[in-house]
Amino acid sequence: MSAGTHAAPASATSGAARFAGQTAIVTGAVGGIGSAIVEGLLAEGARVGLIDFNGLAGDAWAGQLRGQGRAVCFALADVSRYEECEAAYARISDELGPATILINNVGISPKTEGRALKVWEMPPAEWDRVVSVNLNSAFYMTRLATPHMVAQRKGRVINMSSVAGKAYCDIVAAHYAATKAALIGLTRHWAAELGEYDVTVNGLAPGRISTPLLKSVPQEINDAVAGVTALRRLGTPEEVADACLFFASDQARFVTGQVLDVAGGWLMT
Ligand SMILES: NC(=O)c1ccc[n+]([C@@H]2O[C@H](COP(=O)([O-])OP(=O)(O)OC[C@H]3O[C@@H](n4cnc5c(N)ncnc54)[C@H](O)[C@@H]3O)[C@@H](O)[C@H]2O)c1
Repeated sequence: MSAGTHAAPASATSGAARFAGQTAIVTGAVGGIGSAIVEGLLAEGARVGLIDFNGLAGDAWAGQLRGQGRAVCFALADVSRYEECEAAYARISDELGPATILINNVGISPKTEGRALKVWEMPPAEWDRVVSVNLNSAFYMTRLATPHMVAQRKGRVINMSSVAGKAYCDIVAAHYAATKAALIGLTRHWAAELGEYDVTVNGLAPGRISTPLLKSVPQEINDAVAGVTALRRLGTPEEVADACLFFASDQARFVTGQVLDVAGGWLMT
């Protein structure tokens, strides 16, 4: 768990409090990219609701952040279950006020012995789990958060896709690619539905980023990917957080329905 162990994103050190007075919600908040996004939002004045099913790490980190004077609320939830998303959303709204920024960041990419299973090997239960966590959770959280955003005529929804949702990538299995492609479809569709209410919806397509998720494949594979990117390296969670904070900010107020690669020039979709 890398929560709290890394530097805040570069944009967070500019001195601007782009998110002062706003509540943001981040799913998968305790993970590599999620925790960098949380740090960035907090550094720029947001109150942040953290949702994750890693209760031990989430509670400890939230306590640490509160000790530093940050306005955070950790809500334990398995986001694949609508009832748990509903309870987490209600708790965060009660404690921090309703959110105008939602980061649908959570995602899993299961492998078996470091390898993505082929279609004929895939247990239906694993398929269902990935669809529920990666895709259904984004629908659940967006369904819960958008009534307030629409009423306020102010909102930012950011979906965490992947370059594997745009191009074939042999490291991941089809369930991951399918859910990440679906998030791109949702980004465009929701952008069209919500635009008239000044709610923007954008997505990020990270390449290979150094987080605990990468441990599911052997190191040689990650090194090989780094070698074929234009920038010849893996990305950092802070580099994804910087792009995320841009979409969440007023600087991106005329940008909607877009999915930005943050991939160091890998696959260049
Ligand atoms: N790391 C990469 O190279 C990479 C590349 C492209 C896209 N992404 C995407 O970025 C997002 C974050 O990835 P990461 O690398 O930080 O992953 P991570 O494994 O470091 O973090 C994922 C977090 O989600 C939480 N989580 C998992 N299942 C959950 C559930 N059912 N309910 C609640 N919380 C749950 C975990 O506890 C963990 O804290 C994911 O959507 C991932 O697909 C990552």
